[in-house]
Amino acid sequence: MRARFVVVLLAAILSGCATSHQSSIDAAGMQADRIGRLLEFLLIFLSAIYVVVIGFFLWALKRRPPDPEQQAIEQMHQATAATQHRLLNWTVAASGLTVVILFGILIAAVSTGAAELNYHDRPASVSISITGNQWWWAVKYVSPDPQKIFVTANEIHIPVGRPVMISGTSYDVIHSFWAPNLQGKMDLIPSRVNTQVIEADYPGRYRGQCAEFCGMQHAHMALWVVAEPEAGFEKWMNDQLQPAAAPSNPDELRGQQVFLNNACVLCHAIRGTTAGASTGPDLTHLASRSTIAAGTLPNTKGNLGGWISDPQRIKPGNHMATAPVPADDLQALLDYLESLK
Ligand code: CUA
Repeated sequence: MRARFVVVLLAAILSGCATSHQSSIDAAGMQADRIGRLLEFLLIFLSAIYVVVIGFFLWALKRRPPDPEQQAIEQMHQATAATQHRLLNWTVAASGLTVVILFGILIAAVSTGAAELNYHDRPASVSISITGNQWWWAVKYVSPDPQKIFVTANEIHIPVGRPVMISGTSYDVIHSFWAPNLQGKMDLIPSRVNTQVIEADYPGRYRGQCAEFCGMQHAHMALWVVAEPEAGFEKWMNDQLQPAAAPSNPDELRGQQVFLNNACVLCHAIRGTTAGASTGPDLTHLASRSTIAAGTLPNTKGNLGGWISDPQRIKPGNHMATAPVPADDLQALLDYLESLK
């Protein structure tokens, strides 16, 4: 029975390691690695202190006589100036040691942060501006060259081995950008811009999550960071820079008309069409993204249909309007949206 309990307990603990897509102890870049090392240091150091304190506690318990009241009276009689002085010295020394330890921890934490600041000296080759919204991420790739600026949402791609500058702000309430495999948290605050640098050492898909409670759908405010080798990243970026694919068959053409004649156009943009609103995510290359509704569902035709038909059922409280679209129009609309690679 006990063996079974241990197995279940171990399985429960280890299930936390099942995926490393979103983990601050599985660093994929030097920033997260530095934070991970600080965590490791604090864990070991503070565990040692814990063991010492518990050791003293057990030692004191062992010294405790059977009748504490009697002992207290005896101590009162025995107490001399010398023993009181000795106790005072111990107290001062222990307090001093505590201050030194706390300062040591402070220095370790601040120098981890300072190393991050110094890192900004290395010019970032890619610059991404992220704006938190309830409950999705607006993403803009910025560049001195206007031809290289584009907008997307809820998924960012970065080249492996190159520093990427992320600047973040918020459209409404305070959010926090956090891709733990790559970096620590960064608050997204209205009318303020914070920055951080991320750099992935390995290709991979890393999950980011809003890390500041921002309302009802805070938990459904995720984002994927896709780190790709140089060639893959360049290809992705060139694809994103293109306007949306034109409808290639009558169904897609009808779907485009449905989109442009419905409420969709009041919030979303599809570059290359007349839709240019920015209240909701940019849909120019929607089909190239792996999820919809900010990481809530895999981007499949069925999920997209469910999302458009009744977004409040999937993500209650979100700001997507429910547009009543007849079934055959919806099919055409889905054909069109799924063609936006
Ligand atoms: Cu945005 Cu929590």
